[in-house]
Amino acid sequence: MSRTLEQLLCQPLCTVSKHYPAVSDFLAANGLDLSDFSFEDLVRSLSDEWFAGAGTTPDVLLEDGAAFFAGLLGAESIRQIESLEVLSGFDKAGCPEACSLMLKPGDVTCIVGPTGSGKSRLLADIEWLACGDTPTRRTVKLNGSMPDDSFRSSHSGRLVAQITQNMNFVLDMNVSDFLLMHARSRYLENAEDVVSEVIDIANDLSGESFRADTPVTFLSGGQSRALMIADVACIGRAPVVLIDEIENAGTDKRRALELLIQRDKIVLMATHDPLLILQADRRVVIRNGGMSAILATNDHERQLLRQLEEMDSSIQQARSFFRSGKSLTGVESLGNLSDNRE
Ligand SMILES: Nc1ncnc2c1ncn2[C@@H]1O[C@H](COP(=O)(O)OP(=O)(O)OP(=O)(O)O)[C@@H](O)[C@H]1O
Ligand SMILES: [Mg+2]
Repeated sequence: MSRTLEQLLCQPLCTVSKHYPAVSDFLAANGLDLSDFSFEDLVRSLSDEWFAGAGTTPDVLLEDGAAFFAGLLGAESIRQIESLEVLSGFDKAGCPEACSLMLKPGDVTCIVGPTGSGKSRLLADIEWLACGDTPTRRTVKLNGSMPDDSFRSSHSGRLVAQITQNMNFVLDMNVSDFLLMHARSRYLENAEDVVSEVIDIANDLSGESFRADTPVTFLSGGQSRALMIADVACIGRAPVVLIDEIENAGTDKRRALELLIQRDKIVLMATHDPLLILQADRRVVIRNGGMSAILATNDHERQLLRQLEEMDSSIQQARSFFRSGKSLTGVESLGNLSDNRE
């Protein structure tokens, strides 16, 4: 038990709850109120009748409390990522990579390169916190040091949120229950409000609405991804977001990216989409499995981005045109398909 966890268990609950408001929810869920007692003293003060009525024992309640407080501390420590560095390994031919990659919160970095060059591999190396044990033999450092094995196991799933093209649910739950479970596991206050915000954002992103009581297995691929993006942005506390090609995913890709960027996370995205590439601060170029260059998006490129945006908007209009079941019969030019032609 770390000293900090001991302190949390011994401090007056009123004091602890100022820093961790979710303490009130935990107590309420156990039929208890906030007080000047520490958690341990509160448990000791409860009568045998209270435990009989609650169907628990002092040991079990103390254990639940310790697990809850440890969860609070774990969630907090993982938020304090100041840097993530991928130290160079070897490309597919076994030649040393040309560069390493340093990522900081607020950075948006794209990974570009031909199909099969190793973009997803770079994302996987970060997800697994590689330490020379993957095909690329890269090493990932957090805050300047190598994460140890206990960090890897205790923080798996908390450090990195991943959004991939093929996301589907296998849970027997509806959207609202799924999100509430996630929000509560992250000790969020006002979990219900956050859940409805996530559903609104996801519906906005995907365009085809679903409801809070829609079973998650009924969601389409695009709706599932939209839900995961909104979830990562609003509920997930993971400081690192890895995105593998969301461009053709039926979601509003630019809005999705904006949502993820707002939250001061490290965002790394494998993509073939020029719009997304130029919206990022820089891009890692992958060749034959190795990081071969890191290019910063320059002002000239940002100016040219406007042209790309115009082209993209025409494509989007054409997409909506066909999605809504219209026909090109009688249309002489593709210049303005947004007209309400029948
Ligand atoms: N440095 C490397 N050494 C050995 N194998 C590698 C290396 N980099 C990538 N690979 C392997 O090459 C294969 C293709 O890589 P990956 O799936 O990452 O490509 P990709 O760029 O994501 O392609 P796509 O654009 O089609 O998604 C994978 O099996 C991956 O493990
Ligand atoms: Mg890939």
